[in-house]
Amino acid sequence: MGRGKEVNNITTFLEQKLEFRKHANAFRKLTINEGLIDFCSNDYLGFASSADLRELISSKEKAQAPQPTGSTGSRLISGNNTIAEQLETDLALFHSAESALLFNSGYDANIGLFSSLAQRGDTIITDELAHASIIDGARLSNGTRYSFRHNDLKSLEAKIKVSKGNIYIAVESIYSMDGDEAPLKALVELAEQYGAALIVDEAHATGIYGPHGSGLITHYDLEKRIFARVITFGKALGCHGAAVVGSSLLRNYLINFARSFIYSTAAPSHSHLSVSMAYQLLQKEDFQTKIHEKIQFFKKESAAIAKRFIPSNSPIQSFLIPGNNEAKQMALLLKEHRFDIRPILSPTVQEGKERLRICLHTFNSVQDIKQLLSLLIKTA
Ligand SMILES: Cc1ncc(COP(=O)(O)O)c(C=O)c1O
Repeated sequence: MGRGKEVNNITTFLEQKLEFRKHANAFRKLTINEGLIDFCSNDYLGFASSADLRELISSKEKAQAPQPTGSTGSRLISGNNTIAEQLETDLALFHSAESALLFNSGYDANIGLFSSLAQRGDTIITDELAHASIIDGARLSNGTRYSFRHNDLKSLEAKIKVSKGNIYIAVESIYSMDGDEAPLKALVELAEQYGAALIVDEAHATGIYGPHGSGLITHYDLEKRIFARVITFGKALGCHGAAVVGSSLLRNYLINFARSFIYSTAAPSHSHLSVSMAYQLLQKEDFQTKIHEKIQFFKKESAAIAKRFIPSNSPIQSFLIPGNNEAKQMALLLKEHRFDIRPILSPTVQEGKERLRICLHTFNSVQDIKQLLSLLIKTA
């Protein structure tokens, strides 16, 4: 009898939480939007459906012995193989680091990294706009957590001054929701001044900046002054998975202490081969010039409504429309014109900072960009 009552309580709790979301106009649901013009995915270079990449992957697969469908276990048990290790060696070289360690996703990489690093008495300081995976990793650690005002070095320094133990500072080189850049050089200097370890999530900079898209850290020649970088394969590389790049010491530490690495089945070789081929493709053409030309074109054409955008030189251009309902309505209107653009609502972003997150791609046509902007200009 008691058990039935508990289940009823749980059902009521779940229903109430969802009702609350609906009231706040923030109810999330899965949708399938086929046949629309993609201005929302993170596939900035079009790699996810690139025929060239598909061809590279299938040639590579044909050229070697058939690979098992599954990896069969964690890397520490039965899931390790030469393909994974070769990819790590290549990644380290490409990103100018001593070593790399694969994770099954960027979420896993951040969770494993931050939760294992900070011990009781240590401190993790995150930019207030840091990705949920960084926050969750920090929460799972035993360290004290602080956040500082977005891209504000004074605010960061104030937090450093009250920090204890080993200090880890977490930023993104390009912020996923605002698309703006972290002041990386100044951050490196501040971290060095206080002996703190700077960790940079390059999820949205990989493929877009630096030599052949190796990221903003290599673009600024800062690789030797950064404690660790998180690279993800699910965005510009059009694949799935991630790596932490840094010292060999850090790699060994993560193999021993990062729980999302230790206690999870490794990705299959097919996945690692795909990533490896995506890196090959990245080095074949100058994709960076292509994407930056599109970004500059978009910025020039949107000059009349520039104030409505969060300043950004990246493929992520956020058009502010305060209010969950307002942002949703605008996305629906654009969908009627076949544009796939997602509203980003509170609580994902701060209330009042609701927006359309417009993602630019090398494959977006000049005509589509012009039509999209004319619709935004009409309503602005
Ligand atoms: C900055 C940042 N870090 C990490 C992640 C997580 O990466 P993944 O999608 O590979 O789990 C994302 C993606 O949403 C991101 O934007």
